Amino acid sequence: MPTWVRNCWYVIAWSHEITYAPPKGQVFSRTVLGEPIVVYRTSAGLSALADRCCHRGAPLSKGRVEGDHLRCGYHGLLFDQRGACVAAPGMAAPPRAACVKSYPVVEHNRWVFVWMGDPAQADLTQLPNNYSCCSVDWHYEPGYLHYDTDYRLICDNLLDFSHLSYVHEATLGGSTEIAQAKPEITNLSQPGQRGLRVRREVARVPSPPSYQRIHRFEGEIYRWWDYDFVLPGTLLMRSGGRPAANNTVDRGEVELHSCQTLTPETEHSTHYFFQQSHRSGMGDAELAASMHAMLVRAFDEDKDIISAQAQSLAMAPDFQMLPLHLDRALQQFRQLLAREIAAEHSPAVEVLTPTRPVHPVRTIAVHTEPLLK
Ligand code: FES
Ligand SMILES: [Fe+2]
Repeated sequence: MPTWVRNCWYVIAWSHEITYAPPKGQVFSRTVLGEPIVVYRTSAGLSALADRCCHRGAPLSKGRVEGDHLRCGYHGLLFDQRGACVAAPGMAAPPRAACVKSYPVVEHNRWVFVWMGDPAQADLTQLPNNYSCCSVDWHYEPGYLHYDTDYRLICDNLLDFSHLSYVHEATLGGSTEIAQAKPEITNLSQPGQRGLRVRREVARVPSPPSYQRIHRFEGEIYRWWDYDFVLPGTLLMRSGGRPAANNTVDRGEVELHSCQTLTPETEHSTHYFFQQSHRSGMGDAELAASMHAMLVRAFDEDKDIISAQAQSLAMAPDFQMLPLHLDRALQQFRQLLAREIAAEHSPAVEVLTPTRPVHPVRTIAVHTEPLLK
């Protein structure tokens, strides 16, 4: 059984990674769920195809964009946006069997998503609400990390913030009260969003170094984290803090919105796209750079412990984890994941062959404006 759900939108890139310099589009490649995918942008929007030419298997990302088509850089077969070969050098007509798989692709709030399951089920209502990635009210620097780790271990980490007290003592955490607080966990009920809502608060803790960069708190503060964690592995979080003595939040204090998402590259490696936004109008570029640097430092702390955990687990395939109360959210999410994966592999579900003939084009672009270099 695979470790991931197929009928989901997965982030393959930040929008700015796939630029467009008229008349030529840039060719971009990244592997998702073990499948190398080439994405390119033209005046017609984005296209996503299997990054393996059907002729001799060369990566199409070694080729070039011509108009709205992609030409293989080895023997020159030309493919349209649906993956059908439309021209072959020296042949009057392209070979009928020549095609590569295409993927529904959509650009939404500066994340580029590909749908990895049945194209007929590609469902825009399942896109996460990563609004702060594309809003004049919020400011951030985009981030990306690569892990040589099963994405589920990173989901576990994001579903249990008790680790802030220990892993992030010098960055995001700073207090053992965070680990002692009991989170409130509920199932999400909005259509299209499969996941959990997790809320954690602490009444009186020192302000962490990351907050002091935004606001100089004099005494202890009240902190909260309120986030949705949805399939396939996306965190959408509001968080903040205010003086413990006050019960109102104003713009002088800390209010953050963070969008983070995990895309399995293979069963043992993961792409991690992240940002943490602050409200605009607070010395944006400088604050965003300093917050980003702090976040990268904190996420390196996560990567360090999670990678060490993965190595430890790899050496003990029979190791049984000890469930504790603090694992409640991650256990619920793992159960949801297992149910969804099992449902996709029940006999009623059509199994797609990766090289079946071209399906109708499902290229959807919410933001179609070409990004200039
Ligand atoms: S490998 Fe692509 S045209 Fe030959
Ligand atoms: Fe962390």
